[in-house]
Amino acid sequence: MLLLISKVMETFSNKDHWENVFATKAENEVSWYQPIPKTSIAFLETCNLPLDANIIDVGAGDSHFVDVLLEKGYHNIYILDISANAIDRAKKRLGDKANQINWIVSDILDFKPNVKFDLWHDRASFHFLTSDEKINQYLTISQNAITSNGFLTIGTFSEKGPTKCSALQVKQYTETSMTELFKTNFDKIKCISEDHATPFNTVQNFLFCSFKRKA
Ligand SMILES: C[S@@+](CC[C@H](N)C(=O)[O-])C[C@H]1O[C@@H](n2cnc3c(N)ncnc32)[C@H](O)[C@@H]1O
Repeated sequence: MLLLISKVMETFSNKDHWENVFATKAENEVSWYQPIPKTSIAFLETCNLPLDANIIDVGAGDSHFVDVLLEKGYHNIYILDISANAIDRAKKRLGDKANQINWIVSDILDFKPNVKFDLWHDRASFHFLTSDEKINQYLTISQNAITSNGFLTIGTFSEKGPTKCSALQVKQYTETSMTELFKTNFDKIKCISEDHATPFNTVQNFLFCSFKRKA
């Protein structure tokens, strides 16, 4: 019972944190802002997915990646975030085009997808999971949700990157630790390092890795 109460409180406060961020800060007042998500686009292009592919952006916030997916003609797009405020902002920006998207307000660890995804994309959300228990939950949910031969693209802070984001602790990754984590069910395609220039003229080093779900 105590465990259940503490889990509910933790989820609530994490959600509160993100609702507050998206209620109080403009899109260019957060470190992760990217008008053009160029690394995510480059990884998307290497997947050569058909336009009816199921694509999910996990912890998408109000990222512009969805705009790119729409522009390219993808029409089975899923956008998931723990914050309803983030989703509302993305919907407002897209206007009528928002009707073409499957919007999901959920903690990723509670997500029970009813479709399988050809591409699972996550930039700067996975690294907020810092306990082995939560990381393993994420692994189970993602591996069950991705089609065989489907793609997984994850961007996290690298070991040269910050230890915190939005005042929350993050877990940093190296190519080796990321590959090791996913190796049971995924083959690594490639990892790259990206220096992200924040709106505050600082630089954050990211590690981006793409994987293919084993058949
Ligand atoms: C640093 S922001 C990155 C947003 C977006 N991916 C981008 O690149 O602009 C982290 C995002 O993850 C979301 N998030 C954090 N924890 C989450 C969780 N447990 N489940 C779902 N979303 C979560 C936050 O609400 C926020 O939108």
